[in-house]
Amino acid sequence: MTTTGNAPTAAGSGANATKSFQATRQHAGGTTSPERVSAVVRAVLSGVHQAIRTEKVTYPEYQAAKQWLIELGEGGEWPLFLDVFVEHVVEEVAAETQHGTVGTILGPYYLPDAPKLPSVSTLPMRPNEKGTPLVFTGQVRDTAGNPVPGAELDLWQADDEGYYSGFAPHLPEGNLRGVIVTDAEGRFEVTTIRPAPYQIPTDGPTGNLIEAAGWHPWRPAHLHLIVRAGGFRDITTQLYFEGGQWVDDDVAQATKPELVLAPRQGEDARLRARYDFVLEPA
Ligand code: DHB
Ligand code: FE
Repeated sequence: MTTTGNAPTAAGSGANATKSFQATRQHAGGTTSPERVSAVVRAVLSGVHQAIRTEKVTYPEYQAAKQWLIELGEGGEWPLFLDVFVEHVVEEVAAETQHGTVGTILGPYYLPDAPKLPSVSTLPMRPNEKGTPLVFTGQVRDTAGNPVPGAELDLWQADDEGYYSGFAPHLPEGNLRGVIVTDAEGRFEVTTIRPAPYQIPTDGPTGNLIEAAGWHPWRPAHLHLIVRAGGFRDITTQLYFEGGQWVDDDVAQATKPELVLAPRQGEDARLRARYDFVLEPA
């Protein structure tokens, strides 16, 4: 891990996101036809050429862009940059053929092989984990309305400071990550904490770009989920919090109105939120 001491850095999270992508990605299987490569790459280049013409891009700007792209690669920040600024459109296209619960971006911080937990569980966390306790309940059903027992909710989230375990060196491995398995009625109840909004690391090339452009680096607080069950299509999605900061202005443009939780204060100090998932046949 590339870090300075124990503090989370862009270099640390970027390099780790690159490593984890390379270690876990499912290979596409089969080759892409020359026609497809040609069509997609031509379209991308033509968009770039057009931007250069409309904006009358100068040589110094072109060289600065080249320098920035080199730094993006050296810092291992391609996953961060692409998942923030590009993935939402890939997801939009995928969503055209998807039914049931709506999806959104995966992002760079998923790690496979989190521990399997029973339907009523507490997400692994530090004994003194900061943040407002949150009890998240719901049911997984199929598109015909039948409960799906044994469905897996692969859940990962940032902590109360907006950091993800596995990508920030001060956090224990596996913190706030787990796979909750639904009961005979497709139900689950997971106790966790409400995550904080997430800030793109400001000390790396993606952060430099955001600052240079005068944009903001924030994503609203969110829970990440992949919901899966045998015979059904996986759903990769995120849940947001009603009224939360940045819900209407996500740097990654990955919020959707259907994905906003409306938690209420329970009798104790804990927030309670409910969400039901609908899976379509594979
Ligand atoms: C990024 C981080 C996230 O937590 C997320 O959900 C999406 C994108 C990013 O830094 O690229
Ligand atoms: Fe995230």
